[in-house]
Amino acid sequence: MSAPAIDLAVIGGTGLYRLAELQDVQSQQPETRYGAPSGPIRVGTLGGRRIAFLARHGEGHSLPPHQINYRANLAALQAIGARRVLALNTVGGITERFGPRVLACPDQLIDYTWGRISTICEEPGSEVLHVDFGEPYTRSLRAAVLAAAAQASVALVDGGCYGATQGPRLETRAEILRMRRDGCDLVGMTGMPEAGLARELGLDYACLAIVANWAAGAGPDPDEVITLQDVLDNVAAASAGLPALLGAV
Ligand code: HPA
Repeated sequence: MSAPAIDLAVIGGTGLYRLAELQDVQSQQPETRYGAPSGPIRVGTLGGRRIAFLARHGEGHSLPPHQINYRANLAALQAIGARRVLALNTVGGITERFGPRVLACPDQLIDYTWGRISTICEEPGSEVLHVDFGEPYTRSLRAAVLAAAAQASVALVDGGCYGATQGPRLETRAEILRMRRDGCDLVGMTGMPEAGLARELGLDYACLAIVANWAAGAGPDPDEVITLQDVLDNVAAASAGLPALLGAV
């Protein structure tokens, strides 16, 4: 029997471990050929749609960005019938339009991570894929997210370049200056290899970035110290409109 259709899979990032608005929730945690996902996948309904939710770092935020099994997370969502994945990523803002509490749907990315398993072509004998990645996020899913935001009256910046860093430490001011010169608007630690793996697996994939803080040295107070509490407070405030948006995608 094939898995029942999932309209949208959502991967939650830092500060977003549950989707409280999901109804009639059932949990699944399929083992995949890449191992186990970060935690249970909660499948339920929201706005009449079937949504699957997975906390990327685990529901207790126990996994640092470099230890997340990105392949297992995406393969597990695919195994339960997901075809479209919306990644929620908590980020720092680098350029002017991306201050704390802004929501953005980036259209480009630069990968600064290292040492992560970033392909499904690892097993001996597996086919080597050279997927097109010029446009890293799926255009039709981005369009659906932007339309849903408009419908739900949630302000969402269209576009921007996401720079994925290794973490788990935050960046130096010099690193953020370099990223700005490179063309990055946002900085986060989990955008890659997730987006590339989704492309290899044939999943539609888009990112909804939640700006939690100005990246190091990028805000009006260059000496500002970024605290976890600020990050969590801003994510909570910026996420208020998310359930309506997700139900409309
Ligand atoms: N840098 C990297 N990742 C982040 C940040 C940041 O400033 N804020 C939230 N996630």
